[in-house]
Amino acid sequence: MRSKTTHQPRVGIILGSGLGGLVNDIESAQSIDYEAIPHFPVSTVKGHAGKLVFGKLAGADVVAMAGRFHYYEGYTMQQLTFPVRVMKAVGIELLIVSNAAGSVNDGIEAGDLVFLRDHINLQADNPLRGPNDERLGVRFPDMLYAYDPALLDLASQIAQANGIRSHRGVYVALQGPNLETPAEYEFMHRIGADVVGMSTVPEVIVARNAGLRVFAVSVVSNKSYPISTIKETSHEDVLEAVGLAAARLTFVVKSMLKRFGN
Ligand code: HPA
Repeated sequence: MRSKTTHQPRVGIILGSGLGGLVNDIESAQSIDYEAIPHFPVSTVKGHAGKLVFGKLAGADVVAMAGRFHYYEGYTMQQLTFPVRVMKAVGIELLIVSNAAGSVNDGIEAGDLVFLRDHINLQADNPLRGPNDERLGVRFPDMLYAYDPALLDLASQIAQANGIRSHRGVYVALQGPNLETPAEYEFMHRIGADVVGMSTVPEVIVARNAGLRVFAVSVVSNKSYPISTIKETSHEDVLEAVGLAAARLTFVVKSMLKRFGN
């Protein structure tokens, strides 16, 4: 892969549903199709070929995934996290992950940004399951500081200084693809989650296993708590709400990269 790009990325970026536009801001972009990378999963969705895009974003050398994989699509946990291993192998030190999520916290509204401070894995599978390859990471990785505290502080400072509504929260990952029942949203709230979604946790587990720093952010597409206020939510609703907030996410990520790049 290094022979196919002159860039040496230090930051990897995985973009969530409706948040892929950031890839278009990458300068001097050089891309490699997923198909050309041995063992890389290939997108099942027609017209979404998928590629790794190398280049400069806000002065930092980055590699971004244009096209992301979800467990509900049928990939194994190992397949869908393979890109994290590849990005580590090409030299990244930091992984930035975004996603669309539902709020189960009454104080967190649609359109808000939630910087993840922790997660709860309810996907009932784990990308590290199976024989451990010690070259990639330890058998029992610690998860105490999974979400880099210094980057959380930086994100909060940037949001506050620019009047962007943001929170720190706990993300709970479910398999999907259905959204949750009211009883399930209530349960997510009670176990201590702030936002709920169908991605991110596998990639974060692998990133930590690989010794990467992690910054993750949810864009809230629907507020699903308290349950008396829940409205039906379609995928189009999710994409629309996320689209309205995408510029704020882009601003925060670019501001962080400006500090990281220098
Ligand atoms: N639940 C799960 N995943 C989601 C949601 C939700 O309410 N909104 C966006 N992704």
